[in-house]
Amino acid sequence: MYQVDIRNLRVKLNGKDILKDINISFQSPSLYFILGRNGSGKSTLLRAIANLIPFDGEIVINDRDIRDYERKELSRLIGYVWQNPLYGFFEETVEREIKFILRNLGLKDSAFQKIVDFFNISHLLHRSPFTLSGGEAKRVSISSVIVADQPILLFDEPESEMDLDGLERIIDYMKSNASKKLLIVATHNPLIAYKVRNSVREIYLLSSGRVVRKISPSQLEDSELLESIGIVPIDWWYK
Ligand SMILES: Nc1ncnc2c1ncn2[C@@H]1O[C@H](COP(=O)(O)OP(=O)(O)OP(=O)(O)O)[C@@H](O)[C@H]1O
Ligand SMILES: [Mg+2]
Repeated sequence: MYQVDIRNLRVKLNGKDILKDINISFQSPSLYFILGRNGSGKSTLLRAIANLIPFDGEIVINDRDIRDYERKELSRLIGYVWQNPLYGFFEETVEREIKFILRNLGLKDSAFQKIVDFFNISHLLHRSPFTLSGGEAKRVSISSVIVADQPILLFDEPESEMDLDGLERIIDYMKSNASKKLLIVATHNPLIAYKVRNSVREIYLLSSGRVVRKISPSQLEDSELLESIGIVPIDWWYK
């Protein structure tokens, strides 16, 4: 089991304070959401947890600061799915893209076919990842990370670009892994959290780089609360 403790986390990028004094503890196995408007700092927070950007304060996994892990050791532990899939792609084919992490971490290919079938991307394997449609790229990007079966997974807006089939697959993945892994999902869209609410442990509301509140899944129905931090409430669409 894993415990991720974020203590007094501050991130400054190009002279601007982006994250200000974040304190959160995540425990596995669980599914958590980080909810916040555009620019509130969600992606920055996930990037800090994946040790992709410099930060002040501490991010500790099982009592060891993430900056003290070897890069490969941390990659075996944490998977990070980029909000924009194109940031993560660099191989010539989808097949190579998905297999890269397996080769790099010295893992067996056994999960490859399972993931390809699960995300329904076998027809894309010989394509260049850079020529894919938005939703296809999202499926490949998620597959290229979770194929390594890491115990801690960070998803940045996984529902964006997804059609009905794509949403059902990602929701299925979240529901069936919430009791096995530590899943942290960042989004500006409360609908996805609401859809999997029975599997969600806690939701952190982020606003201007601060955690302003920790809420339970039932509070996702509080439109006034969500509107107060610039989130589109669930009932906004059909009002
Ligand atoms: N390298 C950088 N230099 C300056 N500002 C940055 C840098 N990276 C991010 N920011 C700013 O930090 C803030 C938080 O960005 P972040 O990407 O974490 O937001 P977000 O909550 O993920 O937003 P979105 O919902 O649009 O994905 C934004 O105002 C962004 O413009
Ligand atoms: Mg973002």
